[in-house]
Amino acid sequence: MKAIEKTEIEGAPAPRRGKVRDVYDLGDKLLIVATDRVSAFDVILPDAIPEKGKMLTAISLFWFRQTEDIIENHIISTDVSDFPQPFRAHRELLEGRSILAKKASVIPVECIVRGYLSGSGWKSYKETGSVCGIKLPPGLKESSKLPVPIFTPSTKAAEGHDMNISFEECERTAGTKEAGMLKDYTLKIYERARSIALKKGTIIADTKMEFGLLDGRIILIDELLTPDSSRFWSVEGYREGVGQDSFDKQIIRDALSAMDWDMQPPAPRLPEEVLLKAAARYKDILKTLTAC
Ligand SMILES: Nc1ncnc2c1ncn2[C@@H]1O[C@H](COP(=O)(O)OP(=O)(O)OP(=O)(O)O)[C@@H](O)[C@H]1O
Ligand SMILES: [Mg+2]
Repeated sequence: MKAIEKTEIEGAPAPRRGKVRDVYDLGDKLLIVATDRVSAFDVILPDAIPEKGKMLTAISLFWFRQTEDIIENHIISTDVSDFPQPFRAHRELLEGRSILAKKASVIPVECIVRGYLSGSGWKSYKETGSVCGIKLPPGLKESSKLPVPIFTPSTKAAEGHDMNISFEECERTAGTKEAGMLKDYTLKIYERARSIALKKGTIIADTKMEFGLLDGRIILIDELLTPDSSRFWSVEGYREGVGQDSFDKQIIRDALSAMDWDMQPPAPRLPEEVLLKAAARYKDILKTLTAC
């Protein structure tokens, strides 16, 4: 199976290529195509994972449906027959990995919620006892469940790495009322998702979401609760006090961290075995979450 690393569609406007998605601007709508590109530490890797874009799209759609009573989302249609030309003529390429979306004005804050201590949150807690300015009780260990989930926003850097910000900075960026709403939505969506996932044997340790403004309303955009934007752990294998064997991109991050790489582009190539393992994990999580 060949990976789709980028899309070229004759007659379409040139897309904006993000790290993972090719985004075609259609005026008041967007045609968003999830490619098979892989990014880690905010850098696009030279290797892609076949079908990854389809898996991400299916997982996002599952969550958008599960949360649509909490907040309006950007999905208009995922049916290629509803897409305008020239896209409609490219079913083979686009099916399963594309959405016709409402175009919103992106609120430049990454809305991160953490239910467990891991990654940069664990690092910061070890050093300061708090995460993004939120004081946490003493005695927590790596991967500990937090007493309550916390909202830890970060900037959406146009280039390079996103930076954690305090809630006050989030208020300055998004507006006071809006920041409060972002926090409420983020926590509500996380609570809903985490109880659904838990019933299926999966812990959502943390996740990141994005919101946009449309005609004065805040709507949910981008992707939702995918392995690219979240840490998924298995309930079965969960152990407090150590790093978890993760379903998500952690396999790739770990392999890269073990290499002598300064996290600046270009990224090194990954061994075939790491890519296959990561691909298998994407498949697993899709199957686990969407199974009835
Ligand atoms: N409904 C929407 N309206 C406007 N922009 C959107 C919408 N949904 C997603 N986006 C934007 O489209 C892009 C999706 O591409 P991708 O996720 O590959 O980008 P990225 O490399 O993560 O870029 P960024 O750093 O800007 O998030 C993101 O910039 C995201 O903010
Ligand atoms: Mg993104």
